[in-house]
Amino acid sequence: MKSGDRKISRRRLLGSAAGATAGLGLLHESIPHRGAHDQLARAAGEEHGGRGGGGVPSEAHKGAGHRGTVGRVDPRVNGFDPQEILRDYDRGRVVREGGRTIREFELVAEDREIEVAPGVKFAAWTYNGRVPGPTLRATEGERVRVKFVNGSNHPHTIHFHGIHRDLSDGIPGVGVGNIEPGGSTTYEFDALPFGLHLYHCHSTPLAEHIAKGLYGAFIIDPEKGRPEADELVMVMNGFDTNFDLANEVYAVNTVAFAYHDSPIQVKRGQLVRMYVVNILEFDLLNSFHLHANFFDYYPTGTKREPRDFTDTVVMGQGERGILELRFPFTGKYMFHAHVSEFADLGWMGFFEVTD
Ligand code: CU
Ligand code: CU
Repeated sequence: MKSGDRKISRRRLLGSAAGATAGLGLLHESIPHRGAHDQLARAAGEEHGGRGGGGVPSEAHKGAGHRGTVGRVDPRVNGFDPQEILRDYDRGRVVREGGRTIREFELVAEDREIEVAPGVKFAAWTYNGRVPGPTLRATEGERVRVKFVNGSNHPHTIHFHGIHRDLSDGIPGVGVGNIEPGGSTTYEFDALPFGLHLYHCHSTPLAEHIAKGLYGAFIIDPEKGRPEADELVMVMNGFDTNFDLANEVYAVNTVAFAYHDSPIQVKRGQLVRMYVVNILEFDLLNSFHLHANFFDYYPTGTKREPRDFTDTVVMGQGERGILELRFPFTGKYMFHAHVSEFADLGWMGFFEVTD
């Protein structure tokens, strides 16, 4: 993968922002990481040591497992809580028409400033005021009807992954195309195939419309269902906070280190099913690594048999999959992107397993 060019440009930018020459930035391997860390830390009001130094963590951070942020994002400020997003499913409103089950959803695009790390604000574009948007959930074969209202100041669409006619694909120039500010439309299609999918805006420039926050998970349950489990939705995302077309903050469900500061509570021996979606822009790859445990992996969730039994999966942009496991031991188990830079910049958390 050729993220090297981008890394260099990020390095140059951060180098000059730090008052160093671009050349010095290029020579100093730790500059891009430190630069982004410094941004996080400055915003959180933390004092750092010398810029050229080794980055000695402050007392407060020793043992914290990361040193990027101080304090926490208040869910009341954002209006959504990563802890709740984990288990929050929008199953819509069920109506019957001509013997068929229709699931009706409503999504409203809305511009809103959110906090992605303590003190780090991001001018997001949202569906229903949250990033990621609601996790929409239907059952294989049902009819899905999504009313879309554009309350944002920019044209948007909703593009669903799945099998449907072109007219319902939610892209500019086909069907209803772009929905202008103040406009609305209704997308309708059958829920196929079963699996873990996603939806996102498809207006151009595409990377910007996605990276600003217009995306969410879309689960189609198999008609026969899946075994009872504690089900968790994790959307791996990132935020370009300084408009350099590279991410400065990485997370699962938007808030950096949210599950580090408040570990995800699960029960020993219970089946845990994770719906993991990679919606990261600007970086070609993301990954999910779980410590001290292995899981079954179902890419896109479209087959009943797992493809892998592993502790790490790598996902390109738009890839997603279902992870299943039972934790055999109690304790705290870390999970993070095995792209280590992302882990340092927010994409890291813990499961806390209890009896
Ligand atoms: Cu858009
Ligand atoms: Cu897509």
